[in-house]
Amino acid sequence: MNKKIEIADKSYWIGYVDDRKVPFHRLILEKGTTYNSYLLMTERPTIIDTVDIEFGRQYVENLSEIIDLKEIRYVVINHVEPDHAGALPALASKATNAVIVTTELGAQELKQMFKLHNRQFLIIKDGDTLDIGGKTLKFFETPYLHTEETMVTYCVEDKTLYPCDQFSTHIAVKEIFNDLAAEEYLEDFKVYYQLIMHPHRPYVQNMLAKIKNLDIDMIAPSHGYILRSDAAAFIAAYDELSQPKANEKRALILFSTMTGNTTKIAKLIGEALEEKAIEHRIINTKNANIEDIKEAIMDADVIFFGTSTRYADMVGNMEEILKELEAMHIEDKLAVPFGSYGWSGEGIEIIYDYLKRAGMTVVDSSFLIKSTGMNQFQIPIRVKFTPDEEEAARIGQTVAAIGELLLA
Ligand code: FEO
Repeated sequence: MNKKIEIADKSYWIGYVDDRKVPFHRLILEKGTTYNSYLLMTERPTIIDTVDIEFGRQYVENLSEIIDLKEIRYVVINHVEPDHAGALPALASKATNAVIVTTELGAQELKQMFKLHNRQFLIIKDGDTLDIGGKTLKFFETPYLHTEETMVTYCVEDKTLYPCDQFSTHIAVKEIFNDLAAEEYLEDFKVYYQLIMHPHRPYVQNMLAKIKNLDIDMIAPSHGYILRSDAAAFIAAYDELSQPKANEKRALILFSTMTGNTTKIAKLIGEALEEKAIEHRIINTKNANIEDIKEAIMDADVIFFGTSTRYADMVGNMEEILKELEAMHIEDKLAVPFGSYGWSGEGIEIIYDYLKRAGMTVVDSSFLIKSTGMNQFQIPIRVKFTPDEEEAARIGQTVAAIGELLLA
């Protein structure tokens, strides 16, 4: 383990290079990775992020040869996943005077994960600053990049952004700085972006708006190269990669209703698609002939199938349409069941069964959580009677995530 590498005046990389093939998010990182941690050796010494939980003991031993751990005043946690916050319990047990600096949600999660209820936390709000004695840190909340509690840290004097996972690359770099890179890494940088950040690209745009006016000379992320050469180009790359693309994807909302409540859900789905600029059609199946509906299905990339439930079954001619699907060979299309109900909502579940039987990719909560890393969804979209404000918001979030998936 390297003891420390100076990255700016009195600022050091103190991370760990993991040159194994690393299992990560159901992938194998063929080129390994690094867990970058930083020490700012100011009057109030500050750590920014730690390393993977597996290397916690080694990390703390290494750090204890650099600094008396009791002198550490702050430990900034930008993101609580165990590859960055994992060494916090080992560190906190020795750095007994350190205050943990993180977002409100980050603090809740760290307390739960690591039983840190008795530690002092400093809760960060967007734009807060912290004087660490000789350097000033500024913090920005960047939710969903790529988990909800995430923030980034900027050191004013060093003109350095510490964005944790953002702007990272999975390579077990020995050279640490991108200008010393022995081989091409831009493709790896983009692959990392596509895998981890792209599903959340509206949030990437929000983050870029927050850092836009910062004077950034260097980006020191938590995996891979420290981008001290041409930091602006990497910010521009994130901007370009996360721009909403001219949209060629189409959605179709088919529904059959009894009293109009399922119509309201169909309209909410349409509004959320509108927000994502996804072209869509809404068809009440009662008013359309089956051949037109089949044509509309063939033309769409995602189809929402909705029904009210009456006597534990679907209503109207929805079943007639669903029976056609298997022979249409539309396995490449996404499908989402929805509907209003009064008691158990069996109609929606029967739609689900038909869609599965037709071999379509039925979007359910499990599928969406695994595809987006977000978790506030409920699919099938089920509403008891009529959607209230809270349910409307939930439907909006769910459809927005499906839209993101479609556009990714
Ligand atoms: Fe590198 Fe989200 O952990």
